[in-house]
Amino acid sequence: MDLTHAQGEGATEQFQAQSHLYKHVFNYIGSMSLKCAVQLGIPDIIHNHGQPITLPELVSKLQIHPSKAGFVPRLMRLLVHSGLFATTVRVKNQEEEEAYDLTPSSRLLIKDQIISLSPFVLAMLNPALVTPCHDLGNWYQGDKKSTPFESVHGMSFWDYNDQNPEFNSLFNEAMASDSGMMNLIVKDCKAVFEGLDTLVDVGGGTGTCARIISEEFPHLKCTVFDIPHVVANLAADSLKLNYVAGDMFESIPSADALLLKLVLHGWSDEHCVKILKKCREAISKNGSKGEGKVIIIDVVINEKKDEHEMTEAKLVFDMLMMIVASGRERDEKDFKKLFLEAGFNHYKITPIYGLRSIIEVYP
Ligand SMILES: C[S@@+](CC[C@H](N)C(=O)[O-])C[C@H]1O[C@@H](n2cnc3c(N)ncnc32)[C@H](O)[C@@H]1O
Repeated sequence: MDLTHAQGEGATEQFQAQSHLYKHVFNYIGSMSLKCAVQLGIPDIIHNHGQPITLPELVSKLQIHPSKAGFVPRLMRLLVHSGLFATTVRVKNQEEEEAYDLTPSSRLLIKDQIISLSPFVLAMLNPALVTPCHDLGNWYQGDKKSTPFESVHGMSFWDYNDQNPEFNSLFNEAMASDSGMMNLIVKDCKAVFEGLDTLVDVGGGTGTCARIISEEFPHLKCTVFDIPHVVANLAADSLKLNYVAGDMFESIPSADALLLKLVLHGWSDEHCVKILKKCREAISKNGSKGEGKVIIIDVVINEKKDEHEMTEAKLVFDMLMMIVASGRERDEKDFKKLFLEAGFNHYKITPIYGLRSIIEVYP
């Protein structure tokens, strides 16, 4: 019997649709395999090997139970298929052997580099953040205003961080690792920071971003402003960089420029307007060199211009912000509305490569 025929027209499409569907059902296994690769230190092992690594060499360096050695090729096969690692042919003693190599993505996971996103992978795939995702359907059906994160953990994301020092460290390390990418931004967009004497990094975490900026602009006096449990144990590491604890909804230290990196996307429109108004108040009235500004580094959704994968990453971030923090990713129109409501006059968006853009906002 001709099966294709028996199933009628469209069977091929239906089978394709099934594959598409199942891929999405099991996407989380891809995420967890990535987490596993980071936990096992595979990017570092390949990097330290100094050349592509064969399977036996890789297995010999992994800290795994001997009974699991036979399962390593399956993990690597998926990760190679996803583009996180590559395979190449290595010639040894005139014999060809297949070996694993890094790709641009896994090169970003090598530890102890200026840019190392391993902490980001481990924090974002921590059960504290993954578990609330299971509650999304219930959240849509219920009338609770709180986020799925709050429903599951019984407290807001920031309170959870306050009460769970281990997760708080993990999260702060993740944000610091993300900020490592600032090296590229600062070098590419020098004009944004030129002419400033003082800058406050509002919600600046442990100060990685401010440190990178102050190293590039040695005359610039940078302040990292964040909630007490984030900056409590951080000492000023130079005369140029100091830490101030506080609440950005109450008052923000004054400066020529206020930086908001990945802060606004974590808050509702109403909260963002409050934060922006506080920033406007904080822009030094007597700034010596022209008008002060707010510098926003955040996701700007641009479905028409961005490639499919870039938009997908931005939309996934948008869902994460909804699940965790009542926040959202915004397009230019959404940002413009916030700026007007907060009393700002004009703005300039510089799309930078990758997920984020720089927006300079002027009073
Ligand atoms: C997503 S993180 C971004 C950290 C940093 N800007 C970066 O990009 O690496 C948001 C930051 O806002 C801080 N934050 C949250 N609520 C705050 C508040 N009320 N006042 C000041 N900072 C706050 C958090 O502690 C956290 O460090």
